[in-house]
Amino acid sequence: MKFFIDTANLDQIKEAQDLGILDGVTTNPSLMAKEGITGKENIKRHYQDICKIVDGDVSAEVIATDMAGMIREGEELASLHDQIVIKLPMIKDGIKACTYFSKKGVKTNVTLVFSPGQAILAAKAGATYVSPFIGRLDDVSTDGLNLINEIRMIYDNYNFSTQILAASVRHTMHIIDCAKLGADVMTGPLHSILGLLKHPLTDIGLEKFLADYKKGN
Ligand code: G3P
Repeated sequence: MKFFIDTANLDQIKEAQDLGILDGVTTNPSLMAKEGITGKENIKRHYQDICKIVDGDVSAEVIATDMAGMIREGEELASLHDQIVIKLPMIKDGIKACTYFSKKGVKTNVTLVFSPGQAILAAKAGATYVSPFIGRLDDVSTDGLNLINEIRMIYDNYNFSTQILAASVRHTMHIIDCAKLGADVMTGPLHSILGLLKHPLTDIGLEKFLADYKKGN
């Protein structure tokens, strides 16, 4: 399973990159705003800064909601760096733009996916990634992980090559459950990734190993 970090915070991206396990970054307009990155030019510069830190795919989201605008913006974003993946919303024009970019060999990520039907459309449009938002489904008392399971089953039935990018991951158990269900990628905040490190028996065991070493030296 690929690990993406879901943030526009450069320090957090560096920290995850330094672990050596980072495969890419996802961002969205809300995450950019959270870091105080506003204005088209600043946002474009920030994407380039992110691409300098990581080796893998960096999702950059369009703001336009019409096909022509999405294509214009998407092409501008794609020209920034070859690691950029165009993130398109799961709406009619988003699917049309996805088909357009797929035919041109430009990588895409169809975002704001909340149902298996939407995931089928994204795959038919040739999306590189589909982003089901599991945490936001959990927020409204609907099992987000079940959506991952359903999409996995459907994509496997037809050998769709679109990668399932579990998004809106909130904690370590989401990551583990997504791995069990066969999500291709997960994107989550730094704390959800670092949480995987923790086990009290590891800390107790290490403390004892070090204490025993000291006894003999
Ligand atoms: O990857 C999608 C993500 O940014 C949304 O996460 O926690 O706002 O639902 P959240």
